[in-house]
Amino acid sequence: NEKITTTVIQQRKIEGKAITMLTAYDFSTAKFLDDAQIDMLLVGDSLGNVILGYDSTLPVTMEDMIHHGKAVCRGAKKAMVVVDMPFMSYQVSAEQAVANAGRIMKETGAQAVKLEGGSEIAEAVKKIVTAGIPVVGHLGLTPQSVHSLGGFKVQGKEEIGAQKLLNDAKILEENGAFAVVLECVPALLAQKVTQQLNIPTIGIGAGVHCDGQVLVINDLLGLYPGFTPKFVKQYAVLHAAIAQAVADYKKEVTEKKFPAAEHSFKISDGILEKLY
Ligand code: KIV
Ligand code: NA
Repeated sequence: NEKITTTVIQQRKIEGKAITMLTAYDFSTAKFLDDAQIDMLLVGDSLGNVILGYDSTLPVTMEDMIHHGKAVCRGAKKAMVVVDMPFMSYQVSAEQAVANAGRIMKETGAQAVKLEGGSEIAEAVKKIVTAGIPVVGHLGLTPQSVHSLGGFKVQGKEEIGAQKLLNDAKILEENGAFAVVLECVPALLAQKVTQQLNIPTIGIGAGVHCDGQVLVINDLLGLYPGFTPKFVKQYAVLHAAIAQAVADYKKEVTEKKFPAAEHSFKISDGILEKLY
């Protein structure tokens, strides 16, 4: 039951064994995923959307990430925990980036941090890695830049964008990142990046040729009845199971069928008669 380290993750690429990563935001979910031997748990800033109800990841704070990061670390015995650095915690300066990365590591007990971007954040990545903090990069659709990307869409379909993505991936590797997430990238571009890098790629909407895959746990479990992105596969339909369970509860409470005798406690014999 040894902790998954950056060395183990690097070895997976060399051996051609796929890396499994899922998001987790709380203790119970972290425990489920850890018991299932998922390699890496990502405390994604997607918690802004799926846990806190914002319509983007931009409002997420350092405090939010640390609060949820701590809970996930308590549930992850073996899995490596990676915590997203939130919007504006690493973009202002490399000094601020390393200070905030350090705070996340100190206060949560995570094993790595993740930052969005390529050449723009190369200096920050280098400083964080130099401080002894493992870094995961994130390229392609980077949700913290949604307003400048012009929406949630596939990145790197045309030559300029594809070349920038490949260059950025190499820059992240050169500056010490030990893995890079590729989000919403054409499968064959992700394959080329994967082939040209020594560090592993972890895809989400980036095809089957990446060295590993990541999904948002809420998406995988089918917690939402409405729209799901093309790259999501629902491995369960929990929204239907939850709706049914809550409806059943409401009905039984209304009809006084719950709680039944087996859910209720008994007073000792003869006590009730003594009360006045
Ligand atoms: O925040 C998140 O969930 C992520 C994954 C989509 C990679 O960054
Ligand atoms: Na994220």
